[in-house]
Amino acid sequence: MIHQIWPSGDAGPLTPDQLEELYRYPDDRTRLVVNFVSSADGAVTVHGTAAGLGTPPDREVLDLGTDLADVVLVGAGTAIAEGFTGVKPDERAARRRARSGLREVAVTAVVTASGRSLPVDAPVLTDTLVPTIVFTCGSAPADVREGWSAAGAEVVCLGDGEVDLRAVVAELARRGLHRINCMGGPTLFGSLAEAGLVDELRLTLAPFLVSGQAGRIAHGVGMDPARLELVSAITGDDTLLMRYRVRDPSST
Ligand SMILES: NC(=O)c1ccc[n+]([C@@H]2O[C@H](COP(=O)([O-])OP(=O)(O)OC[C@H]3O[C@@H](n4cnc5c(N)ncnc54)[C@H](OP(=O)(O)O)[C@@H]3O)[C@@H](O)[C@H]2O)c1
Repeated sequence: MIHQIWPSGDAGPLTPDQLEELYRYPDDRTRLVVNFVSSADGAVTVHGTAAGLGTPPDREVLDLGTDLADVVLVGAGTAIAEGFTGVKPDERAARRRARSGLREVAVTAVVTASGRSLPVDAPVLTDTLVPTIVFTCGSAPADVREGWSAAGAEVVCLGDGEVDLRAVVAELARRGLHRINCMGGPTLFGSLAEAGLVDELRLTLAPFLVSGQAGRIAHGVGMDPARLELVSAITGDDTLLMRYRVRDPSST
């Protein structure tokens, strides 16, 4: 059972339709939403992946994020660590996508600068229903880029020494992929946040203490604090699931 606690108080368990409505993109404007789960003590992984932090409400909301998006954007490190394949909608996802007027399958887009984190036989390139887009830059060797293409991916080079993330978002929008559901990881999220490209953070606080050496949800060179506004908070199975809008700095 999932209950809403913000902005409206608890009026009983949310129905699947109400949950879908809460997470639906409001319009066709280009929006970049980032998803993370963190333990209560701030860890982003257990034994190298996020799987150990998941609870049923978190998985439900992650599924909704993918089901209602045009594109899943992910860093190469996460695509490999988490064993990503292309998106494969089940019947429920297909119904959700049809209700929202979305294409049958969300595209997956992977970001890599050097190419080192993305082997040409990675399932995120080879096990897909629609071609995966690889966003890379001049640092990736030509033979690696050719390998990705031979594996079925569409390779898009944006930038010389680093991937121009603003150009990545513009390119997705140009393709009509306006609902961008980013699945991390922390390096990609840090870069996107520092570039001011994140519209919404969907943060799950999972009911676990794990200690250890795990990192946090973003890392990079750092930035002036960006102010967040709490859009909604729901809870179930001792898990807190929050949606934060990143406030436009010009409006503060
Ligand atoms: N708890 C959660 O919700 C959650 C979510 C996602 C990931 N994770 C965990 O986070 C860990 C991975 O962390 P990570 O920081 O390495 O993940 P990541 O950001 O997905 O991957 C890092 C790699 O992706 C590429 N990349 C990222 N940002 C880039 C940018 N701005 N420009 C160009 N390339 C970029 C680079 O690849 P190249 O080196 O090939 O250039 C980089 O080495 C995994 O253990 C995963 O399980 C947890």
